Amino acid sequence: MTHPTPAFALILGVVLALVIGAPATTGTPHIADKYIQKRMALMNSQRVALTALTDMSAGRIPMDSRSARQTRRFLIATTASIPKRFRKRRFDPNSHARPDIWTNWKDFELRAKRAEAAAKGLKTRSLDSLRRTLPDLIQACHSCHGSYRAHVNEFTTH
Ligand code: HEC
Repeated sequence: MTHPTPAFALILGVVLALVIGAPATTGTPHIADKYIQKRMALMNSQRVALTALTDMSAGRIPMDSRSARQTRRFLIATTASIPKRFRKRRFDPNSHARPDIWTNWKDFELRAKRAEAAAKGLKTRSLDSLRRTLPDLIQACHSCHGSYRAHVNEFTTH
């Protein structure tokens, strides 16, 4: 067994945090509702994963196909679980989920499906293929946020 790469170890840490239900530690304001905490933790874990890939794509960290492949798999799983994490209509003053999610549920699900398809479409074999396929996923994240997340903040998306 080789040692996990730092990016993969980081993602693994996030996954474990999700599994044991630890609250997000990325500066999310306090939210009492566990259900809302979980959907935000899911989103934040996607941001961490996406950052690993954009860092590779931009040359800030070396391209690592193995780690990128793991991250792709992680993002396929997280995007697939978006509908499940949002199905219940729950509000909190510190949540940025727009009520339209639940009046346009089919469309919300469709956006999640598109993000999942974009995650599946990631090609991680080379830096070139990663660079070609990553924008679709980023676009899918932004597209859903544009419609269903209040106060769109590009910076926190990835
Ligand atoms: C189908 C819709 C949808 C897709 C696709 C989606 N998001 Fe989100 N995202 C949301 C919504 C809605 C919120 C607001 C949740 C809340 O505040 O309760 C959110 C919030 C976030 C947040 C802020 C979490 C916080 O703690 O406030 C981050 C970061 C984020 N998303 C990252 C991503 C990334 C990265 C992707 C793409 C891989 C992505 N999202 C794809 C709907 C989506």
